Amino acid sequence: MPELIPQPRYARFLPDGGTVELTDPLLDTGPGTGGAARWLRRELGAATGWELPAPVRGGEHGARPVIRLALRPDIARGTGAESYELHVAPGLVLLEGADEAGLFYAAQTLRQLLGPGAFRRAPLPGAVWRLPVGDLLDGPRFGWRGLMLDVARHFLPKDGVLRYIDLLAAHKLNVLHLHLTDDQGWRMEVKRYPRLTEVGSWRARSRWGHRASPLWRETPHGGFYTQDDLREIVAYAAERHVRVVPEIDVPGHSQAAIAAYPELGNADVVDTAALGVWDDWGVNENVLAPTEAVLRFYEGVFEELLEVFPAEVSPFVHVGGDECPKTQWKASALAQERIRELGVDGEDGLQSWFIRHFDGWLAERGRRLIGWDEILEGGLAPGAAVSSWRGYAGGVAAAGAGHDVVMCPEQQVYLDHRQAAGEDEPVPIGYVRSLEDVYRFEPVPPELSEEAAAHVLGAQANVWTEVMEDQSRVDYQVFPRLAAFAEVVWSRLPEPGERDYAGFDARMTAHYRRLDALGVDYRPPGGPLPRQRRPGLLGRPIEGAPPNV
Ligand code: ACM
Repeated sequence: MPELIPQPRYARFLPDGGTVELTDPLLDTGPGTGGAARWLRRELGAATGWELPAPVRGGEHGARPVIRLALRPDIARGTGAESYELHVAPGLVLLEGADEAGLFYAAQTLRQLLGPGAFRRAPLPGAVWRLPVGDLLDGPRFGWRGLMLDVARHFLPKDGVLRYIDLLAAHKLNVLHLHLTDDQGWRMEVKRYPRLTEVGSWRARSRWGHRASPLWRETPHGGFYTQDDLREIVAYAAERHVRVVPEIDVPGHSQAAIAAYPELGNADVVDTAALGVWDDWGVNENVLAPTEAVLRFYEGVFEELLEVFPAEVSPFVHVGGDECPKTQWKASALAQERIRELGVDGEDGLQSWFIRHFDGWLAERGRRLIGWDEILEGGLAPGAAVSSWRGYAGGVAAAGAGHDVVMCPEQQVYLDHRQAAGEDEPVPIGYVRSLEDVYRFEPVPPELSEEAAAHVLGAQANVWTEVMEDQSRVDYQVFPRLAAFAEVVWSRLPEPGERDYAGFDARMTAHYRRLDALGVDYRPPGGPLPRQRRPGLLGRPIEGAPPNV
C-alpha cells in the first residue's frame, strides 16, 4: 500500500509491490482537463524532465506509456464533489475527476505515487519513475479544508503566499484564509486610501518574543500586497482549486488603520493622531469609532476588496469581529449617543450593529459574511457564517441556530501553539499540541444533531505569527502538523475515534521525504534543529496544561 497522505478512501494495489516503469509518457487530455494538464506539465515536467506531449491522433504511440485525463461527472454520485479515480496499468495511467478539482487531486495523488523525487524542481541524475499497479477511488469528507495565515503580524512576501498555496494543494486543502489587517499592520493596497499602506503597513520595531519578553527587534518591519499581487494570488489559487478568504478585521484589531486615518478611532477619548502602528502583541483597546463615517470608509475598502477577490474564488468575505474591547466605547460620549440613537443593547449591541451592517452590505453584492465567533454576541446577522475559535461552543450554538460553521478551536488547531513540552521549542506558546493531538482533532462534536452537523462546512488550522518572524518559523509551526490536519478534513473514517495514529505515523516517513524535496522547514520528529531554536526568547506557555490535555 503506497504511503499516501491524506489517506485515500479506497485503494487496491497489487500485492508484492507490483510496479510499472514510466518513461517519457504522453499526456492525453480530454475535454475540460486543461487545468490539470497545465499543472502536470509544469510540476511533473520540472521534476522528471518529461515534456508530456499530446499523442498524435491516429498516430503510433510506439512503446510510450500514456497518462490520460478525463472528467467523469458520474463519479460524484458515489463520492461527492472533488472526488476522483486513479488507475495504473502497464502502459496506461488513467486519471478521472468527478469535476476539475477532483481531477487536480488525482494529479496530486499521482505525484505522491511517483515518490519524493517528483516533488523536486529538477530531476536527479539517473532518476527512474515507477508507479504501483492498482486502482484508487477517493473523495473528501469536508468541502472547507483550510489554513489561515496571519500575514499582518509578520508580513509574508507574495512568493511565500504562492508557495503556501502549492503546499495546501499538495495536501488536498482548498481554503486559504488571509488575515490581511491587524493592529500591527495593514497589508492590502486600497487605492482610495493610500495611507493605509503608506503608513499602516510599517512599524518601527517589534517586540522580540511574546508579551512578557523584555527584548525588542529595533528593525522596521512591514510590507503589503498591491492589488495586482492579490489578483495574481487569487488566480494562482483558483488554478489550484484553492478558494481565498480575505479578512479585514473590524471593529477591533484596527490600530494600523487608525494610525493611517486617525478619524477612524475614538478621538473623543484618546489622542488618535498620536497613535502609530502597534509594535506590541496582545489585545488592543484602540478600536474603530461606531460612526456612519467609519462605515462609509470601510464600504470603500470592501468595494475595492470585492473587485480584487471575485465571487468565484472568494464567495466568503471575513470581517473579523474578534477581541473588540469595549473600554473606549464605554468612555466615549459619542459612542454612548450612538447606542441611544440606534436603540441597541449597549456596547455589545454596537458591535452587532457593525457586523450586521456588513452582512447586509455583502449579501446585496452576492457575498457571504464570515466572522470569528464573537459575532454571535449581541445577535448574529441572518446570513452570517462563523469561524469557531474559542473552542467548539460558538460553532455548536451557531450550527444549532442554522448558521454555517467552520471549526477552528484554538485548543486543537492553533498552530502557533507549541508542538512539544521540551525547553528547546522556539518561543513556546499555549498548550502542547503534538502531531498526534492534531491527528485526533474531530471537527464535528458529538453533541450536534445530524441537522446541525450538516452546517459544519469543515475546518481550518490557524497560524498567528506574532512570534514567527519569517517563512522558516511559519514552516516550523505548520509542518508536519498540517499533514495530520489534512487527513482529518479529507479522509472519511468508518467511525469517529477510529483514527489509526500508528498507521499515519508510519506513512509520515514517506511524507517527510516529500517535505524535504519541497524544501519545507518542518519540525523534525526528534525536535528542533539548532538553528530552529530561539534560546532566551520568552513565549507564553500555558502551564498546568499537560501534554495531550
Ligand atoms: C482570534 O484568535 N483572535 C480569532
